[in-house]
Amino acid sequence: MLAKRMSKIEASGIRKIFDLVQHMKDPIDLSIGQADFDVPKRVKEAAVRAINEGHNRYTITQGLPELREKLRIKLKGQYGIEPESLFITAGAAGGIFLSYMALLDPGDEILVFDPYFVMYKHLANVIGAVPKYVDTYPDFRPSKERILKAITKKTKVIMVNSPVNPTGIAYTAEEMRMIADIAEAHKLLIISDEIYDHFVYDRPHECMMKYYPKKTILVGGFSKTYGMPGWRIGYVAGPQEILHKMETLQQFTFVCANAPAQRGCAEAFDVDMSPHIEEFRKRRELVYGMLKPHFDCVRPEGAFYIFPRVPGGTGQEFSKRAIEKDVLIVPGNACSDSDTHFRLSYAAPDAKLRRGIEILIELAKKK
Ligand SMILES: Cc1ncc(COP(=O)(O)O)c(C=O)c1O
Repeated sequence: MLAKRMSKIEASGIRKIFDLVQHMKDPIDLSIGQADFDVPKRVKEAAVRAINEGHNRYTITQGLPELREKLRIKLKGQYGIEPESLFITAGAAGGIFLSYMALLDPGDEILVFDPYFVMYKHLANVIGAVPKYVDTYPDFRPSKERILKAITKKTKVIMVNSPVNPTGIAYTAEEMRMIADIAEAHKLLIISDEIYDHFVYDRPHECMMKYYPKKTILVGGFSKTYGMPGWRIGYVAGPQEILHKMETLQQFTFVCANAPAQRGCAEAFDVDMSPHIEEFRKRRELVYGMLKPHFDCVRPEGAFYIFPRVPGGTGQEFSKRAIEKDVLIVPGNACSDSDTHFRLSYAAPDAKLRRGIEILIELAKKK
C-alpha cells in the first residue's frame, strides 16, 4: 500500500520519548528540544492583532516583505552577510526539506556530522540520497581529515549545523573556514542550519555564509530564539538560482508560512532576548558542573544540550533505566550511528535539572 520510500523512515527516537511522556504522571523531562520560556508579550500581541485585523489569508510565497526586510537587516548587522535571496519557511524544518529537495537527486551523497539532528538522516533517506557520516567523536569537533575521507565523486552537499544539536558544540571561525575551503575545493554546496544562532555562550556565533557566500544555503528560524516552535516560522537565505526553485516548491507544498505568526515575528527583532540567553548560559554551567565528575562529557558552547557518554552499556539501556526513575533523556542512537551517549536538554528549570541529574548520577554509580 505504501510507497517504497516510506520504508526508509522510522519514528524519531525523540518522538518515541515524547509519546511516553504523555502517559507519565510527573516526569522530569530533560529530553525537550524547545526553550522553556514563552513567546515575548509584544510578539504574541502582534500575532493576535493580526488575526483580529483579518490577516488570515495566504501571504505571498516568500513571506511578508516587512519580515524579510527585517531579517536582511539582522543578517547584515549581526553577521555582515547580504544573501542574494531570502524567504520565510514553515519552520527551519521546512527550509531543510526544501533545500534537500532542491539539491539532492537519488544517489547523491550528503555529508552529515555524527552526532546529528535526526531530520538530516531521515530526509536524505526518504528522497533516495545517501547520508555519509563524518564521525566527530569524542570531542565533537569537525576534523578536516575525516571530512576529506568521506568525500567521494557522488558527494554534493555538506550539511553543517552549529551550534550542534545534540552536542552543544559551536564551531569556531577556523572550523567554519576549514569546512568552506573543503567545499570550495571539491565544488560542494553547504546547507548550514543555524537555528540556535542566538544560543552561543563563549564567543559570537559564526555564520557559514560569511565564509562561503556563493554556495551556502543558510537555514534559520524563530522557534528556539523566541520560544515559538509551534508557530512554524523559519527562513532560508542563499543563491538566487537555488532559492528561486525552492520558492516554487514551497508554492506547491507549504504555500506560505503561517500568516499571523509572520506578523508577530516582524515584532520580534526589537525584543531583547539576552536575559533568557544569560539564564541558559548559567544552566550550561550548572549542568556541566554537576555531570562532569561522573560522566565523560564535553563542555557545551551553545544550543541547550549536553551529550555525555553513558557510564557503561548503551545509550538506550541507560535511557531506559532513567525513564524507570521518571527522568527522560534521549538515547544517543536517536541522533547518531553510535549508541554510547545520551542527550540531556537543559531547557528546564534549575530545580528540575538538579533533581534529574542527581538521579542520573545515582544510576551512573550503580552502572
Ligand atoms: C538543529 C535543528 N534544526 C532544525 C530544527 C527544527 O526547527 P523548526 O522548529 O524551526 O522547524 C530543530 C528542532 O529541534 C533543530 O534542533
